[in-house]
Amino acid sequence: MLAFVTGAAGFLGSHLSDRLLRDGWSVVGVDNFATGDPRNLREANESDRFTFVEADVSEPWTGWTTRLDSAQRVPDVVLHLASPASPVHYERLALETLAVNGLGTMHAVTFAHEAGAKLLYASTSESYGDPLEHPQRETYWGNVNPIGIRSCYDESKRFGEAYVTTAVRKLGIDARIVRIFNTYGPRMQAGDGRVIPNFCVSALRGEALTVYGDGSQTRSFCYVDDLIDGIVRLATRPGLGGRVVNVGNPDEYTIRQLAEITARLAGVPLHTEDRPLPPDDPTRRRPDIALARELLDWQPAVPLEIGLARTLDFFRLTR
Ligand SMILES: NC(=O)c1ccc[n+]([C@@H]2O[C@H](COP(=O)([O-])OP(=O)(O)OC[C@H]3O[C@@H](n4cnc5c(N)ncnc54)[C@H](O)[C@@H]3O)[C@@H](O)[C@H]2O)c1
Repeated sequence: MLAFVTGAAGFLGSHLSDRLLRDGWSVVGVDNFATGDPRNLREANESDRFTFVEADVSEPWTGWTTRLDSAQRVPDVVLHLASPASPVHYERLALETLAVNGLGTMHAVTFAHEAGAKLLYASTSESYGDPLEHPQRETYWGNVNPIGIRSCYDESKRFGEAYVTTAVRKLGIDARIVRIFNTYGPRMQAGDGRVIPNFCVSALRGEALTVYGDGSQTRSFCYVDDLIDGIVRLATRPGLGGRVVNVGNPDEYTIRQLAEITARLAGVPLHTEDRPLPPDDPTRRRPDIALARELLDWQPAVPLEIGLARTLDFFRLTR
């Protein structure tokens, strides 16, 4: 079985590639290192079933796919994860983010259609924007500011969803959409602005943890191994064409609780520095995972304290 993984040098794409290789798949990983890191590919590169191509998937895929052997050009599944994912990166790469979720998704659809492959599109809980419904079910349409600072990400993911769903209807492709909620774990980047790496790095340096707003806003955090397991199930199970499924951990924590747990696990006293809440920052977000339980027999298995301890270990080693 052959899988194409776009965004393979990223946090999730690299874990996904490793998992597929461990399961016996051959994997073609593609990335332009816009936000990825070659070090994330160390484990994958040890496998002779892994092929890496450096390319921009917003450009036509005929350019880079012709560099592959003919047998490698016909995957069973295309997993389109390429996209900046943290606010720091997608605000810096705003036009590129719109391109990769727009043009990149269109190319992924064309390629999967021509190859007769399944397609999995990595969408996000940010499709729900600042939600007015809690927890968020897949049927909720969202509350998104189309011209706000986050719109390059939120709206391009929503366009990607619309394009993939329309291609299911018009072209008959077998495509699935995963709405990923906050995921954390080893290989996140220290400076990418997401709360868990921020807290881990600050705690390990003995610095104050930066809390935006009053810290009462909640998030749910899914450990990376759980998320990847949900993605693999959604991408490979038969009969799920056209389905849109939330994958995330519904356990809700306030940012202040997260700060307390991180400091405790790092073995340091808690010091926080309070800053104003950025614009369009959602105050609550939590997945309803009833559909994932029903369709995928999936639910998260790694508790926050275990996942955070593993993530702290990663940052201890890479500091
Ligand atoms: N990590 C999360 O909590 C989370 C939550 C919701 C959705 N997602 C989605 O999951 C996917 C992966 O996120 P991540 O956290 O691994 O982010 P990441 O930034 O670590 O990985 C994204 C990868 O895509 C690559 N990339 C970006 N544009 C590209 C292009 N035009 N051509 C080729 N490669 C390109 C980057 O270089 C990077 O390696 C993204 O689509 C993101 O929107 C992630």
